[in-house]
Amino acid sequence: MSLTLRINGEDRSILSDPETPLVYVLRNELKLKGSKLGCGLEQCGSCAVLVDGKAELSCVSPAATFEGRDIVTIEGLAATEIGRRVQAAFVETNAAQCGYCTAGLVVAVSSLLAENESPDRDAAKAALDPHLCRCGAHPHVLRAIEIASGRS
Ligand code: FES
Ligand code: FES
Repeated sequence: MSLTLRINGEDRSILSDPETPLVYVLRNELKLKGSKLGCGLEQCGSCAVLVDGKAELSCVSPAATFEGRDIVTIEGLAATEIGRRVQAAFVETNAAQCGYCTAGLVVAVSSLLAENESPDRDAAKAALDPHLCRCGAHPHVLRAIEIASGRS
């Protein structure tokens, strides 16, 4: 079946089973490999993308359910002011260790700051809660949020 998805500001047409979860379409059909597939069960956060400006997981919901919505992947975030600011803060704080969770976390933090320019510690922790990091980078990410929001 033909699907048209709006990804990083462009309409992308693909032939795919409409039940295929979005992350497989991004990675395998469109070669956007930045979104990682971790658990595949909406448990780890590594597959998060922005959908209509908010972080959503992409490993379970079928790609067809994203038609007509505005998807921004980690590749597209670099073209946004918030995305650049968040990525710079991650670099400054060494918030990426092995990097597996990093794209999802950058998406989550960008979504948080788009909604709340100056989140307090509790709001920052809540935004990170759905995102597992086996390398223990969350304290660095919390620091990155402070820097990206101008609170330090
Ligand atoms: S791969 Fe989607 S939440 Fe883990
Ligand atoms: S940096 Fe390795 S899983 Fe988070």
